[in-house]
Amino acid sequence: MKDNLFDIIGNPKERSSINPETVNGGKIYIETYGCQMNLSDSEIVLGLLGEYGYIASVEIENSDVIFLNTCSVRENAEKKIFNRLKALAHYKKKNPNVIIGVLGCMAERLKDNLLNKSKIVDLIVGPDEYRKLPALIENVIETGEKGIAVKLSKAETYDDIIPIRKNSITAWISVMRGCNKFCTYCIVPYTRGRERSRKAKKIVNEAISLNREGIKEITLLGQNVNSYRDAENDFPDLLGMVADAVPDMRIRYVTSHPYDLSDKLLETMAVRKNICKYIHLPVQSGSDRILKLMNREYSIEKYTGIVEKARKLMPEIAFSTDIITGFPTETEDDHKMTLDLIKNIKFDGAFMFAYSPRENTKAFKMDDDVTSAIKHRRLEEIIETQKKISLEINKLNINKTMQILIETLSKKSPEFIMGRTDCNKTVIIPKSNHKIGDYVNVLIERVNSATLFAKEAI
Ligand code: SAH
Ligand code: SF4
Ligand code: F3S
Repeated sequence: MKDNLFDIIGNPKERSSINPETVNGGKIYIETYGCQMNLSDSEIVLGLLGEYGYIASVEIENSDVIFLNTCSVRENAEKKIFNRLKALAHYKKKNPNVIIGVLGCMAERLKDNLLNKSKIVDLIVGPDEYRKLPALIENVIETGEKGIAVKLSKAETYDDIIPIRKNSITAWISVMRGCNKFCTYCIVPYTRGRERSRKAKKIVNEAISLNREGIKEITLLGQNVNSYRDAENDFPDLLGMVADAVPDMRIRYVTSHPYDLSDKLLETMAVRKNICKYIHLPVQSGSDRILKLMNREYSIEKYTGIVEKARKLMPEIAFSTDIITGFPTETEDDHKMTLDLIKNIKFDGAFMFAYSPRENTKAFKMDDDVTSAIKHRRLEEIIETQKKISLEINKLNINKTMQILIETLSKKSPEFIMGRTDCNKTVIIPKSNHKIGDYVNVLIERVNSATLFAKEAI
């Protein structure tokens, strides 16, 4: 069924008469899916193409190049992209000159197979080949030939590229790329390649220049930031250097792997006021047996130990996590251990997923023996348990005063604005005279499991 999902629209050769001027200096529209690494990469792509005269467009209509920066982490993520590509056929029909490109993890995973699956795709470019985009775009314009570049690199970090950021208050800085962990369920090491780090000095300089531009908060990004290394500097060193270089900015980081989260990292956070007291620490399962099958390289005892140590050093610290339910061979007992862990740790929040087999991973060879119905029942139980805990924790904040950084208008009403606490809680307050980028002290009045509602503290 998949092979004829897409209409064949237009013969690529018809494009050979296009004048390059129509696209060089043309408008690039990027839709980004997946994790923050992809969001950060889209900004890098815009920065890179900006150097060649292309401009970022916020509207798909009338753009000359449409990119989907894609995610392969679960089957559903890929389904979403195939559906989106189907919808994009409409733009191609309207304007056969429009160039459609698939970037990111799906480009890397499916490579030229993607051309068979979607006839409207002109370009397939993996995460380490974005420097080739200007030439590839030109080539499509000049020859009408489809382009593909999907080599992974051991060195590419885009260290010299200045990303074009949409947000004027918060910014991501990608500090390392790739992953060497090879969790058995995970496609990321195959789509993103091996770990490599940017120079600490470059990262610190980027933070300083973002500070000068008026950015208030920085998130240091990597698939596993604990593996960061530049000469003698490890991740805690880098985090400390960045925090010290821009003491009036909030500093966050994501994602940490429990295997190598060090005491040094916790101590670095504890002694610096501007490092946010929040850690996203994916646990995946509450069962040591399943963790072993997942190749996560830590036990629940070790994980709990990290959380306890962090809470002792920073009593206000918040934790969020990722959980996969229905990994091969997961029993009701394993599932109960995950529920117990959630209740024990009391995470502030969690991203929860049903296991999705990914081709070429180690777990793909294991029998996916937990039925879809069981996976979804377990997932519901996990979500319900976590929701109750998030609500319980959020309730403790009622009548407390907190400082938030205003990030955007509320999605639901322009009369309200959204800010975030140091611990990454979303807070909604009446807009009144506040501006995006202000720090405001607020009094929490009511909560639900996801959001705090507040008024300005007097
Ligand atoms: N590097 C990060 C995670 C990146 S992927 C880390 O290790 O923390 C984000 C999350 O997607 C993972 O933490 C995991 O919970 C989930 N995930 C990854 N592969 C998956 C799969 N095959 N099925 C279901 N969920 C998966
Ligand atoms: Fe995937 Fe594991 Fe690497 Fe995270 S640490 S990206 S889950 S292989
Ligand atoms: Fe998805 Fe790739 Fe990120 S698979 S989660 S976009 S690294």
